[in-house]
Amino acid sequence: MDPEAAPGVDPGVVVRRLAPDGLAGPTPRVGVGGPDEVFVRLAPRLREGEARLRSLVGSEVDVVAAIGRYLASAGGKRLRPMLTALGAGVVGFRGDWSGLMCVAELIHLGSLLHDDVVDGADLRRGRPAAHTVYGNAATILTGDFCLARAVLLAGEAGGHRAVVELARAVTAMAEGEVLQLQRAGNLHTSLDAYLEMIDKKSAALIAWASAAGAYATGDDAAAVALERFGRGVGVAFQITDDVLDYAEGTGKAPGADLRERKLTLPLVHAMVRVPSLRARLSERAPTEAEVPALVDEVRRSGALDAALADARQRVADALACLEVLPDGVDRDSLAVLGRYLVERAR
Ligand code: IPE
Ligand code: IPE
Ligand code: MG
Ligand code: MG
Repeated sequence: MDPEAAPGVDPGVVVRRLAPDGLAGPTPRVGVGGPDEVFVRLAPRLREGEARLRSLVGSEVDVVAAIGRYLASAGGKRLRPMLTALGAGVVGFRGDWSGLMCVAELIHLGSLLHDDVVDGADLRRGRPAAHTVYGNAATILTGDFCLARAVLLAGEAGGHRAVVELARAVTAMAEGEVLQLQRAGNLHTSLDAYLEMIDKKSAALIAWASAAGAYATGDDAAAVALERFGRGVGVAFQITDDVLDYAEGTGKAPGADLRERKLTLPLVHAMVRVPSLRARLSERAPTEAEVPALVDEVRRSGALDAALADARQRVADALACLEVLPDGVDRDSLAVLGRYLVERAR
């Protein structure tokens, strides 16, 4: 596949792709509106971020640049750059906006390149996953390139504290991914162990993205509040991603977690509702032909709604962490985005 043929990301498309049908929950106070309004308001910054990202994944080594562009130009929600932009707005950040916004997205790109190799996933962002096109070795090394570029950029755009906290987040991500691997097939893993794992693999980076501007400006109190917010919505976001593993049209193949027998919150709820499921899945991994019926069984059990209800509660708790921050359009937009991260699965 020719990566140059990949369509560039038009921020207008990003905004439309993000626009959901509606959003539950209380109306924000300062006239932020729904997520559509937030996305439209952020569009100029996102546009700058896209241009910057495109140059950041560039390399004099052709294959590295090709793999970086291949994934970056395939779309994605740009959740982490949006959180960084809003968090930076709350604390009055005045530096390199587009650079700061790209840090967590670059880490994310690197982690997705690695994750699809680890998970043996063939589809990402609606396209064949990079490793199926470019091979495992070049894909993994380009993932390393993205991670290192991000650390460099965090130093340049965010300063020392931003780099230190980013290193902690990336360490946690690696641990979370390995924990998940180790526990695959063990359907007796505790709920706490699952929560610890998703906190590390996903929420740590979302917390960093939310607090990046506060690290850069040295606003310690805001950093604590934004990290707590980010961790809470990050866990809710991963629970929602685990629910969406049972959905069509996400750009990823449905049932991937079941196929690998990964314990996720939807599966925990499903095993409570359909007790024979635990025994069947513990005995052996499902065959490819058995996966669709299992997906259907989980869907029909009501487990997906139960998991989303848990995610919603976590978002509500996370939003309370924003109370100590200065009131304003960016703070309220964080709340809107936080709620949207779960409601996108409705
Ligand atoms: C997918 O993240 C991987 C997780 C950490 C759950 P996103 O859902 O943010 O992926 P893109 O960037 O929109 O493709
Ligand atoms: C996301 O994990 C990858 C990282 C957080 C590093 P998953 O494996 O759950 O995400 P998807 O479903 O493939 O996007
Ligand atoms: Mg995966
Ligand atoms: Mg994974």
